[in-house]
Amino acid sequence: MFIVFEGIDGCGKSTQARMLADWLESRGIPVFLTAEPTKTKLGGYIREILAGKEAIDPAALALLFTADRYEHIATEILPALADGKIVICERYYYSTIAYQVAQGVDRTWIFEMNKYATNPNLVIFIDVKPKLAVSRKAGEEIFEERAFLEKVYSEYVKFADMQRVDGSKDAQAVFEKVKGIVSRII
Ligand code: TYD
Repeated sequence: MFIVFEGIDGCGKSTQARMLADWLESRGIPVFLTAEPTKTKLGGYIREILAGKEAIDPAALALLFTADRYEHIATEILPALADGKIVICERYYYSTIAYQVAQGVDRTWIFEMNKYATNPNLVIFIDVKPKLAVSRKAGEEIFEERAFLEKVYSEYVKFADMQRVDGSKDAQAVFEKVKGIVSRII
């Protein structure tokens, strides 16, 4: 079982992913909690770019995120699934589509380059509007500006294959909804 959390910066997906992992583990279900960009060398390079240390062409950035993803799938996600774990991943190819399309990269091209990425069984979109998300975040990374996040948000809502959860409530209330969705499929 492969579960992905998506949403704009400041939506609270890290908190929800952690709460879901803890809840499943408390029920004796083995979990592998992970995130993109990853903790690998490539993920580290991407984080340097995000911190604004280096500027990079958006198409090149889309390729870097996707390269990081294929490595993540091969070395961590597929082995964890083969071990019978529930994989919970914060961000996946939906992020590349939403963020890099918002930067002007061609949507079809991003889809194409991600077509061999293992598809998740469930994608939960933590729905928080940019205005609220920005007020929650300190904003140290390049993508955490409201105008840009408005574009990202408008890309996210185009996906048909996501379960949308209202993320504007407190973490526990949001988690009750997440739990309801996950309970139906495990
Ligand atoms: P994330 O780690 O979720 O942010 P934070 O820890 O600051 O909450 O993601 C880092 C940033 O990378 C975030 O602004 C979204 C962006 N991103 C992309 O632009 N494309 C991608 O493919 C991915 C995975 C993330």
